[in-house]
Amino acid sequence: MSQDTGGYQSNPFVAQIYDQVIPYRDRPDVKLFVDAAIESGGPVLEVGCGTGRVLIPTAQAGIPITGLDLSDHMLDVCRAALKEEVREVQERVDLVRGDMRDFDLGKKFALVTTPFRSFQHMISTEDQTNCLENIHSHLVPGCTFILDIFNPSLAGITADNLGQEVGAEPEFSTPEGIKVRRFNKTNQRDHLKQVLDVELIYYLTHPDGREERIVHAFPMRYLFRYEAEHLLARCGFEVLDVFADYDKNPLGSIYPGELIFFTRSLNKD
Ligand SMILES: C[S@@+](CC[C@H](N)C(=O)[O-])C[C@H]1O[C@@H](n2cnc3c(N)ncnc32)[C@H](O)[C@@H]1O
Repeated sequence: MSQDTGGYQSNPFVAQIYDQVIPYRDRPDVKLFVDAAIESGGPVLEVGCGTGRVLIPTAQAGIPITGLDLSDHMLDVCRAALKEEVREVQERVDLVRGDMRDFDLGKKFALVTTPFRSFQHMISTEDQTNCLENIHSHLVPGCTFILDIFNPSLAGITADNLGQEVGAEPEFSTPEGIKVRRFNKTNQRDHLKQVLDVELIYYLTHPDGREERIVHAFPMRYLFRYEAEHLLARCGFEVLDVFADYDKNPLGSIYPGELIFFTRSLNKD
């Protein structure tokens, strides 16, 4: 099994900048996950917790949460952010370095989540089923698993823009005074394997005028709605709801939107 994390381990820069990147910083998903955590009562497991963007607000809301991630760099940023929190919040958090395809935390959770497409770093069907089976075995039967992936836009995955840097985002500055502009590029699309080879490209201008180009490259597996539903059913989950956005508007209300599955863990025995 590879140690690949979607480029989050091989690019320490990505972890350092992650919480400042505007589409990550402003992503409107935190409330949905915090509300679900409160409703569950905890403990919660976030699979692919990264820098704690969702995990820390969950702990601030009073819910014990374990974060699992394979990238030391992302976990280091999360640990540093936690140090800024009051002791009660820190004490609600466990961080574990581990692979979502193969982990055993020795306990069961009242809610498991995979916010912001972490599951799409599972490239093969074997990785996907290993991950879902591990999640299943960590959930109290009858409790909720939220799978959060994007809904592949048919126009987007066939657009005639391979190899082009597109999607310019607004410039921002880091606390160190580095100006950052970001673009994205798709180098290849394998429509049989449903894998996109994506690059997120950061152009930095340092305070001394030096310029730098940093590339976060990773493959991403896209899944269609019914494929995901079959995969979930195969791994012991009953789909209760599918939402198109983080305000819980129903699938079909916007296109492409997201695919946010609220599922219930079935007892396999
Ligand atoms: C897009 S980030 C999402 C982070 C966080 N959930 C959020 O919402 O901001 C994806 C995360 O998945 C992690 N990841 C990728 N592959 C993994 C694996 N095999 N096991 C555990 N974590 C993994 C990455 O290190 C990264 O932190």
